Amino acid sequence: MSNSDFTPRDNFGSRFGIIAAAAGSAVGLGNIWKFPYVAGQNGGGAFLIIYLLFIIAIGLPVMLSEFSIGRRAQRNAIGSFKKLAPGSPWYLVGVMGVVAAFLILSFYSAVAGWTLEYIFKSLTNTFAGKDELELNAMFGSFISGTWRPLFWQMIFMILTAWIVMAGIKKGIEKYTKVLMPLLVVMIVMLCVRSLTLPGSGEGMAFLFKPDFRGLSADAVLGALGQAFFSLSLGMGTLITYGSYIGRNYNLSQTVVQVSAADTIIAIMAGIAIFPAVFAFGIDPAEGPGLVFITLPNIFQQIPGGYFFALVFFILLAVAALTSSISVLEVVVAWFVEELRLTRRKATVLAAVMISVLGVFCTLSFGVMSDVTIFGMVFFDLMDFTASNLLLPLGGLLIVLFVGWYLGADRSRHEISNQGKLRLGYFPVFMFLVKFIAPFAIALVFIYGLGLLRL
Ligand code: TRP
Repeated sequence: MSNSDFTPRDNFGSRFGIIAAAAGSAVGLGNIWKFPYVAGQNGGGAFLIIYLLFIIAIGLPVMLSEFSIGRRAQRNAIGSFKKLAPGSPWYLVGVMGVVAAFLILSFYSAVAGWTLEYIFKSLTNTFAGKDELELNAMFGSFISGTWRPLFWQMIFMILTAWIVMAGIKKGIEKYTKVLMPLLVVMIVMLCVRSLTLPGSGEGMAFLFKPDFRGLSADAVLGALGQAFFSLSLGMGTLITYGSYIGRNYNLSQTVVQVSAADTIIAIMAGIAIFPAVFAFGIDPAEGPGLVFITLPNIFQQIPGGYFFALVFFILLAVAALTSSISVLEVVVAWFVEELRLTRRKATVLAAVMISVLGVFCTLSFGVMSDVTIFGMVFFDLMDFTASNLLLPLGGLLIVLFVGWYLGADRSRHEISNQGKLRLGYFPVFMFLVKFIAPFAIALVFIYGLGLLRL
């Protein structure tokens, strides 16, 4: 046994801390920036139902698999596989996760930087009196600039690194315990504002009244991809967080609570956005510019708009921050445990390396916009490689690992806290993990590669 087996590992200190950190990871730009526009482009209510089905049948089992791998091994994403499957190539699943962490954070921090700029723009009342066209031009000229978007991206990376550097209990847990309740308060405020606008009923009907006629195969597969990204699955984020969860906590209960929180916040983001979109006669399928162009346009036309715009962009930045720390932690935990760096050095090194990639992502909207690789600008290449290739492949291998390699006995042992908890649903979990989830993920993966057109 090496020395490190005797050094106590930093752990989450409380039940609420675990939920705050894990829900903080899950709730992010994926919920508030992406979910509303993807739902908007794919028909609203019908998309929502398919999405919920995927969360339950695939999201829950994959998340429980990640938590149990991490807690059983008490290691980072790569170390966990090395420990549970020594001498086998399974550790490559962890390697893929670490690579995905680099790629995801490089483009995630670019968009997160935009949210900081928009906090600044809200503060200085920049949206006042501008119409949709002018707001569109403002967004375009900002993201295609050089120094301004880079400046905010670097500020965001420094904030992320600052929290991660402080560790699990004194960093990630401490900050997410404050930021997540703040996020809930802000989103409730925005929902109330949106629902009290005249004509909000139409937006609610769009989000909640399913119309399956418009549902395409693209939308169904988009819903699974969105479920994966939104729940932070497939990358070892939740393996890493699972390794900080004590043996006495109930993993399946945590999984249900975190997934419920993530889903409720995504739906609330929809409630905060669609009634306003419809009340002002805007196309719900507006796309990625929905929150950066359409919302400022709406805000500056409603009573209290200055205040609500500010709240909205702070909400977006907070959500992004509690997610980005969970991505950086995957790399840092690996640097610390496998490369034996101090936490400080590991964090700085990881953040600097990611920032370098991040610069290319940001510049790909501006001076580097005509540099393409496989027909994609750098930002899209990072997003595509991580979200469409590495995450689904990682998720697939993770469920196969739990279903077929760890197997029922060892999984039950871990999930039941060494037999202390009764798990009536366990056979259902095993069935999902062995058959349903791998099949569904494989389908999206093949589709994502463009090998299948439905
Ligand atoms: N879930 C976050 C969001 O919705 C993003 C995120 C954080 C993530 N960690 C992840 C996505 C790990 C995939 C894998 O914005």
